[in-house]
Amino acid sequence: MKKNMLSPLYLTANLLTLGLGLGSCNNAMATPFEVLHWWTDQGELHAKQVLVEHLKVNNIEFEDFAIVGEGGGGAIHVLQMRALSGTPPEAAQIKGPDIAEWNNLGMLAEIDKLTDTGSWQQVFPQVVIDDVTVDQQYMAVPINIHRVNWLWLNTKIFKQFALAPPQTWKEFFTTADFLASKGVKPLVFGGTPWQDALLFESIAISELGTEKYIQAFVDFNHDVISSSEMINAFKLFKKLHRYASPEQQGQGWFWASESFINNQAAMLFMGDWVKGSWTVAGKKAMQDYQCIPAPGTKGVFSYNIDSFVLFKKLHSVVEQRNQAIFVETLVSPEFQTDFSKVKGSIPARTDLDLSGFDDCSLQSAADFKSNVKVPSFTQNMATSSHQQGQMTQLISNYFNSDTLTAEEVVQQLGVMVKALTSK
Ligand code: GAL
Repeated sequence: MKKNMLSPLYLTANLLTLGLGLGSCNNAMATPFEVLHWWTDQGELHAKQVLVEHLKVNNIEFEDFAIVGEGGGGAIHVLQMRALSGTPPEAAQIKGPDIAEWNNLGMLAEIDKLTDTGSWQQVFPQVVIDDVTVDQQYMAVPINIHRVNWLWLNTKIFKQFALAPPQTWKEFFTTADFLASKGVKPLVFGGTPWQDALLFESIAISELGTEKYIQAFVDFNHDVISSSEMINAFKLFKKLHRYASPEQQGQGWFWASESFINNQAAMLFMGDWVKGSWTVAGKKAMQDYQCIPAPGTKGVFSYNIDSFVLFKKLHSVVEQRNQAIFVETLVSPEFQTDFSKVKGSIPARTDLDLSGFDDCSLQSAADFKSNVKVPSFTQNMATSSHQQGQMTQLISNYFNSDTLTAEEVVQQLGVMVKALTSK
């Protein structure tokens, strides 16, 4: 696992452990079970409530420590403050390589010390096991799998113009420009770095192919990062900017999701967490919206695995029991099924009956089994959130700049990656 020696978390913590030492003197009395997360969209709140109800059945009182969305960027910074000052919550939504980063600080409880994980190898797919283990130790609890490389189509608009789902980027731009000529907003996205980068991710997958995508965004292979394919990917990405509009600037993904489902735009690129609020609003898959792989990415599943870590505390027996119950609830078939139905994801367990899931989730489950899986770099599956944040800002700067060329942003990306990975 790449150690990000430059990340603020790593540097600050080293200073703290040298000087002040970690761990808080929590009083021994059991306190409500505080959980940091960023699920604040309508659909996410309903999914979180499923967790609250399942924990309540086991006498665990879920206490919100919620930081507003945009893929969790803000939440991680707030968590750093809390954890590094010795007052971490009981649990936090930490995923991907960040799990190892936090583990390197000695802050996480080993899951095997809380509950028996003997059956996990049988019920979770290897990509999930690999995602939540550090040196063969379970350090996080996996709950679901979102697909990121989806293109959502507004059924009403597509039917009105008798349009076919675009399979290639050429078909996408032809469809988008046709709709624009009819005065219909072809594509909606909020103007934030995280959303700009999410647009780029599907283009990078389609233009680089899965192998080179992984070499570039997981291995930080300099030759691939500075390749002509990467330059072409950025040029194609920039073509999407023609669909940006002033009112989109600064809008979160909730706004884009609402615009799309209210028939104000024909298409939307977003992970399938976006379905959650549509379900809450009574919208139905294949009736109000359709889901297709982003152009050029059919046969590829860009995954985002949500997981929670447990923070070491001065463990009283009660606290340890509560953390064990939290873990056992999250991995239970009942919770994993109920949660994903509302969240728009598929369960992290692949041994569950998915009847009752909508057609987009069923397609996601089938594609997860058969497709080439790649870690979503915009959802912190490929790099630490620090590295991802730096790259996201650069990608967004290019997308919104009138001067930066594709050649220049690729050159800057190469320099950034070298700095982020220097020992
Ligand atoms: C992701 C998270 C998803 C979803 C999304 C939007 O990072 O893993 O569960 O909530 O952010 O907030």
